[in-house]
Amino acid sequence: MKLLHIDSSVLGPNSVSRQVSAAIVDRLTRAMPGLEITYRDLAATPLSHLSGAHLAAAQGATPDAALQPDLAAGQAVLEEFLATDIVVIGAPMYNFTIPTQLKAWIDRIAVAGKTFKYDANGVQGLAGGKRVVIALSRGNFYGAGAPAAVYEHTETYLRGVFGFIGVTDIEVIVAEGIGAGPEQREKAIAGALQAATELRAA
Ligand SMILES: Cc1cc2nc3c(=O)[nH]c(=O)nc-3n(C[C@H](O)[C@H](O)[C@H](O)COP(=O)(O)O)c2cc1C
Repeated sequence: MKLLHIDSSVLGPNSVSRQVSAAIVDRLTRAMPGLEITYRDLAATPLSHLSGAHLAAAQGATPDAALQPDLAAGQAVLEEFLATDIVVIGAPMYNFTIPTQLKAWIDRIAVAGKTFKYDANGVQGLAGGKRVVIALSRGNFYGAGAPAAVYEHTETYLRGVFGFIGVTDIEVIVAEGIGAGPEQREKAIAGALQAATELRAA
């Protein structure tokens, strides 16, 4: 079994989502000895944003030599994603949604003909059979009934995009209210770390 561990926070050792994603990987590694782990830090090694030249190359146009390394990087992350059984993602909320680095990764894995396709019935996800576990961290509170709930575009977005490509096994662990003072920060982190230990084994 393969596990792909992705982080996207720009806050390095102060990151909450990195702490929680590491705890998730620790839990799953203990539960499934022999799990093969691949780690990708999207903040340390970002992918570039998609351009028209990327899309033209995907349609068969001959790309500039300068674009070749980037196309190869995009192909590598797509193959890495397709080959894995479990994906663990550290996903902070920045400006009400995911970091641009994580979006750039999603732009490389949401590829027509590879992870989804359109047919007469609409869209069909092609990346089913994977388990996705997301460690979300948010400064404010966005749960049901919270005044800011309508601004939640992190969990809703990630559930949407993975659902779109056919993933149905999605678990989300949330640490929120991180900006509401040190006590709440500690409480939220402790709750998320506890939830990580309670993830199902396989
Ligand atoms: C650039 C930036 C933008 C942020 N935007 C939001 C926001 O829109 N809503 C919110 O609730 N928290 C926001 N926060 C707070 C983060 O969600 C919170 O600090 C969270 O712990 C970040 O995850 P990380 O620690 O893994 O980076 C923002 C933080 C940063 C650094």
